[in-house]
Amino acid sequence: MTKVSIDEIVAKVDELPSLPDIVVRVMELTEDPDSTAFDINEVINRDQNMTAQVLRMANSVYYGYSRRIATVTDAIVLIGFNAVRSIVLAASVSKILKQELSGYVMGEGELWKHSQCAAVFARLLAKKNKYRSVELAYTATLLHDIGKLVLNSYLSDSYQEVLAAVNEENIPFDQAEDNLFGFNHATVGGKVAEKWKLPRDLVEAIACHHNPEQAVENPELTAIVHTADAVTLQMGMGLGVDGLMYPLSQESLDLLGVGEEQLEMLMADIVDIFIDQDVF
Ligand SMILES: [Fe+2]
Ligand SMILES: [Fe+2]
Repeated sequence: MTKVSIDEIVAKVDELPSLPDIVVRVMELTEDPDSTAFDINEVINRDQNMTAQVLRMANSVYYGYSRRIATVTDAIVLIGFNAVRSIVLAASVSKILKQELSGYVMGEGELWKHSQCAAVFARLLAKKNKYRSVELAYTATLLHDIGKLVLNSYLSDSYQEVLAAVNEENIPFDQAEDNLFGFNHATVGGKVAEKWKLPRDLVEAIACHHNPEQAVENPELTAIVHTADAVTLQMGMGLGVDGLMYPLSQESLDLLGVGEEQLEMLMADIVDIFIDQDVF
């Protein structure tokens, strides 16, 4: 097996495409208190494909305005700046997240499905908990496994070895990655988020999603991402091999004040949402 260094991985991260201009621009505008729906509308409307995707997602069952949103401006007014920003980001990362990840035994579209399902769950969880930024929870969760895109090519060679470690030593998959590489897909994901100049708490939530106790910047956000990820895997959404032995942190649940009963209610809600394929 070829041993890979973190430097090599960081170089690989640099090869990943940057976030498209339209996403960067929309992110800037939604953070600027002086910008208006008109400004954002103008940026999105320049891209026909993006406009179509924003409308399709805004009209999905999830937002509750089914088939009534006809323009980007309507979408901004009805579902809000931040929700539109999430859609723009999701639409632009969906392409890369849809790739097949043979190293993780995930078929085409599987990581996307898992990420989107977890992100929608995170949004519901954040809403129920009156977390201050529901959209931040969504975005962080959508991107939580982004490091897999980078590690995938290295894992393909040593996959059998990692799997054997998981089975024989009874350890979670990310720990097997740690043993093998000296880092795991969460650490690498943090590097990708840094490269994309995402906010610090978002970087942390991605980097610590398997070890939420390590978060210091924004432990609550990390706990939401972790819980949403673990629950989604429990529900069998985009299982792959990462689903093996993934413990749900009690500390995260305590921090969020979430009990078993509430989790089950959220799981039932999410099943209804995913009947609508437009969410994907
Ligand atoms: Fe993960
Ligand atoms: Fe995950």
